[in-house]
Amino acid sequence: MSPETPAIGILGAGRVGTALARLAIAAGYEVRVATGRPPAEIELLLEIMAPGAKAVTAEAAIADSDIVLLALPLSKYRSLKPELLAGKVVVDIMNYWAPTDGTIAEFEGVRSSSEVVQDFLSAASLVRSFNHMGYHEIEEEARPAGDPDRRALAVAGNDAAARGIVSAFVERLGYDAVDAGPLMASRTFGTGTPIFGATFGRAEMERMLSAEPVA
Ligand SMILES: NC(=O)c1ccc[n+]([C@@H]2O[C@H](COP(=O)([O-])OP(=O)(O)OC[C@H]3O[C@@H](n4cnc5c(N)ncnc54)[C@H](OP(=O)(O)O)[C@@H]3O)[C@@H](O)[C@H]2O)c1
Repeated sequence: MSPETPAIGILGAGRVGTALARLAIAAGYEVRVATGRPPAEIELLLEIMAPGAKAVTAEAAIADSDIVLLALPLSKYRSLKPELLAGKVVVDIMNYWAPTDGTIAEFEGVRSSSEVVQDFLSAASLVRSFNHMGYHEIEEEARPAGDPDRRALAVAGNDAAARGIVSAFVERLGYDAVDAGPLMASRTFGTGTPIFGATFGRAEMERMLSAEPVA
């Protein structure tokens, strides 16, 4: 592990988790992946879906990584262990989608799901990003810096240093990172917002983020 090539821990080996694992490996990161199952049970899946990613326990994915990505169903967030994530930079990619997650009262209010998850992971620096794109686009739309078609991703979190770390990760993976400010701003790019699922370049994303009032 070196500052130039931080290690990434991913919790979740589904559509989003494996796509980000492949992209991060291609960008030169060390990648460890954990699910709710023992590592031996996801080794084959990772060999096929994300060659080079290491199957580990959640404890190892978190402890040995500089950035931890939450790519598990939001309905399972309470299975995360706040004490393991204390002090970590954590990227929340999870969205609330009642048809699949079921209706969950705490996600039905005006607060974004990330604000609720940050309350639970109170000692982690939670940063929301990647959530407003489809899993199938994660690799397809990555472009080198300066490419006129490079897509922008919003980055929101209460800790400015953590936003910077995640922005550097986003940029290295092939996207322009647009600093949206505190986690509350993630209300503007959650499910059902104009930004969610839409493709914007940096200037347009900056405009969209500042145009959207935070309720
Ligand atoms: N699909 C999209 O296009 C998309 C886009 C943006 C954001 N998202 C969000 O990203 C998250 C993942 O979506 P997905 O489509 O990748 O879901 P998915 O394909 O159903 O994968 C979910 C993964 O999470 C794992 N998991 C379940 N409980 C876990 C736990 N307690 N700890 C660690 N891993 C756990 C599952 O493995 P086991 O069940 O074997 O443990 C599985 O590998 C969701 O919150 C979703 O809202 C999805």
